[in-house]
Amino acid sequence: MIKKKVSFDISVFSSINELENRDKKLMKRAIEARKNAYSPYSNFTVGAAVLLENGEIVLGNNQENAAYPSGLCAERVAVFYAGANYPGVKIKAIAITATSINYKVDTPVAPCGNCRQAISEYEIKQESPIELFLMGETGKVIKCKAIADILPLAFTSSFLL
Ligand code: THU
Repeated sequence: MIKKKVSFDISVFSSINELENRDKKLMKRAIEARKNAYSPYSNFTVGAAVLLENGEIVLGNNQENAAYPSGLCAERVAVFYAGANYPGVKIKAIAITATSINYKVDTPVAPCGNCRQAISEYEIKQESPIELFLMGETGKVIKCKAIADILPLAFTSSFLL
């Protein structure tokens, strides 16, 4: 038996203001996207902004449903929109922000497992990393260099031969 360590680096910014211009702009679009979330059941609103290699930004937000599992997270709304409308255009980065009616979200919000899996599919297909910028409503922003970092030991199409 051998033991292996899986680790990865993140960058932690003290606030959105510390981000580079490109990334600050992307996070601002995610904040804008958040405002159109439909989340009457959780009262938790999430916005995602996807930056494409052609410079276009596509937005998504969580869309809930009275039949709870029929709803969808902001990240998947955004990346599926990108996949549907910009096929073959690579994704460079995704900014994610969340807020709640019930409390002040002041720590960075990370994508759920299903969203990590969905984003991973695109990262593998395009053969280049997708950067992630994670924020609550205010406060620190975490940057991850690739979705693969936060989805180690991923299930991929390589198992489906
Ligand atoms: N949600 C997202 O939009 N993204 C995530 O990565 C985690 C959770 C949404 C789904 C649901 O509408 C609400 O947040 C509470 O789970």
